[in-house]
Order: sequence, then structure tokens, then C-alpha cells
Amino acid sequence: MALLKILHYPDPRLHIVAKPVDKVDDHIRKLAADMAETMYAAPGIGLAATQVDRHIQMLVTDVSDTHDQLMTFINPQIVESNGEAVHEEGCLSVPGIYEEVTRAERIKVRALNLEGEPFELEANGLLAVCIQHEIDHLKGKVFVEYLSRLKQDRIKQKLKKHSREAM
Ligand code: NI
Repeated sequence: MALLKILHYPDPRLHIVAKPVDKVDDHIRKLAADMAETMYAAPGIGLAATQVDRHIQMLVTDVSDTHDQLMTFINPQIVESNGEAVHEEGCLSVPGIYEEVTRAERIKVRALNLEGEPFELEANGLLAVCIQHEIDHLKGKVFVEYLSRLKQDRIKQKLKKHSREAM
């Protein structure tokens, strides 16, 4: 396994729309394992392939405190969503920024697993937030884009300053 480099907002590659996976093979399983390792090391509770500059529809999550509930979603689609809930979100691609976002409270997601088999999952709470946040990444959308233009500009300035300081 290997740690992958996570792209940081406002990197334009975060806006590339991911393509569906047409065959779940060893190459895909290796990438999923590397993404999981990268997510746990960060540490984070979700990671989309887009964030590691691989533009295919795959994401991993583990919202447990015990780090033993890894889930992989390939070609995920939200087929039902209900209610509204506001959660404070963060993102490994937007380090140090936490902002409230309104999303569906409950979702049903359909995806393929690492064997290429379809499954459906109903989620609420933090897992529902996380899946919606990661699916947005696959569509080229970063959570800060839900915020006002003014807030987005401030976040961009802050992150640019940080990346200059890090050089
Ligand atoms: Ni994110």
C-alpha cells in the first residue's frame, strides 16, 4: 500500500468530473486500499478518488471511532434523499476550514463493492453527510462552494498564504 498525495483547494483538478468505473479489477482494489490508508493516515473520515487526482467514481469512508468500518463505494448514486440537516464539515482538501453545510438528513445510496457487486445502503447522521460530501467531490464540487462568495474568497486567500508559507 502507499500513501497518496491529497490535492488542496483551490487546485483546479478538484473540479474535474470523475468518470464511472467500468471494471472493478485489481487495479481498482489497489487504489481503494491506498485511498483507505491515505484517509486513515490524514486522519479523515472520507476520501474521494478526485482528491488524490484519480478521476474515477470511487470513494472510501469510515466514520467510526474505532476505525474498523471501512466502506468503499464505486459508481455511487444517491437514489433517495429525505429531510434536511446542518452539520459542520471539514475536508482533507481544505485543511483547517470548518463550516456548516445543509444537506439531506437521510439518503439511500446505490453503488458497487470491491467485488463489482451492486449494493444499497441507507444512511443517516454523520455517514449520510460524509457520503454526500464525497459524492460531491466526484462531481468536481468542494464543500466550500456551498458558502457565500465572500467566504470562499477568504478561504482561498487563507489557503494560498499557507501554501506559500509551507514552501
Ligand atoms: Ni472533502
